[in-house]
Amino acid sequence: MDLDSFHAVDLDALRRRFGMKWSHYGPDVLPAWVADMDFPAAPAVRAAVAAAAARGELGYPPSAPDSGVPAAFAARCRARWGWEPDPALVLLVPNVVLGLLACVEAFSGAGDAVVVTTPAYPPFFAVIERAGRVVAASPLLPGGRVDGDDLAAVMRATRARVVLLCAPHNPTGHVLAREELALITGLAAEHDAIVLSDEIHADLTYDGAVHVPTAALGPDAAARTVTLASASKAFNLAGMGCAVAVAGTAALHQRLARATWALGHAVGVLGIVATLAAWGPDGDEWLAACRAVLDANRRHLAARVSADLPGVTMRLPDATYMAWLDCRGLELGADPAAWFLEHAKVALSSGPAFGPPGAGFARLNFATPPALLDAIIDRLAAAVSTRR
Ligand SMILES: Cc1ncc(COP(=O)(O)O)c(C=O)c1O
Repeated sequence: MDLDSFHAVDLDALRRRFGMKWSHYGPDVLPAWVADMDFPAAPAVRAAVAAAAARGELGYPPSAPDSGVPAAFAARCRARWGWEPDPALVLLVPNVVLGLLACVEAFSGAGDAVVVTTPAYPPFFAVIERAGRVVAASPLLPGGRVDGDDLAAVMRATRARVVLLCAPHNPTGHVLAREELALITGLAAEHDAIVLSDEIHADLTYDGAVHVPTAALGPDAAARTVTLASASKAFNLAGMGCAVAVAGTAALHQRLARATWALGHAVGVLGIVATLAAWGPDGDEWLAACRAVLDANRRHLAARVSADLPGVTMRLPDATYMAWLDCRGLELGADPAAWFLEHAKVALSSGPAFGPPGAGFARLNFATPPALLDAIIDRLAAAVSTRR
């Protein structure tokens, strides 16, 4: 596939974008924060959405089973990960975060603890707090691996009935190994807890790492796992409003269907159209090209951080288009993103928003044309050079 659309930089067009990433900060700032990509969505997706709009097909969407999304999701999981979810157990929700909220409310009680490994995607905390539950944090080991001893202790101490998992992990980019997932689902079994496995970044796993769906570990894991996924991260469709919530067994599905009933009504018809196009054959080709560009970007970024940003380190992420920058060597305090916004005019995501282990860190979104990524790094490097 022609990579021009991933490499071309039209800064004026980006600045005219209506979405959150480019509209939030002024024209002097380069945004590398929220998880949208700067690439245009796949041609197949844009064509499908435009065709549906041109047909005036803007009414009530089909029911989940009639929509084709559950079958497309199941086929995709079978082909990519050897996981065979039953399409009858796949429900539609408008997005992953609302799906998580409904699940936390359904599978725990008021005031209960919900386990989350930290650093964590900030809305995980918001979901737990808005549901009236309590965050039970288990800090990850360096590199994002799960600390089994700590997790066991947290689960024992808090009697949590829900574990909120992010696999692959945002912000560290760690792809959880089968053994880590087995440890988590084993602890969940011991405490009769449900695992909410947010696998939204699975399609953004780079060669060399292997994504294992939590529910694919075996029947015991499947019986207590709800998987949340969507095309939105890998295909840059976060505004389209379509995601899936998948129960590992029919019994869990009944509970999940009750929990997500209202949300099923909020899925938009164009979100379904976009998801089907993304998960079709043309989408695969686009995704392979996108991942190749992101792979080159992550390596280039890691090399430049090492060469040009003394005091900053990063681990090469195995998945996602996020770099978790350890800026503690710069001694900028808890929130280096605030300093970089002021001194480099680059908007990063603030580390402390990911929980206490995020102090001294910032997250950089590298899903941008390579020339723009270099412009972002140049600004960071120029600001860092004034510190020495
Ligand atoms: C781990 C994770 N889950 C969920 C989301 C958001 O998903 P949605 O827009 O479907 O709620 C993101 C977005 O970056 C994410 O990184």
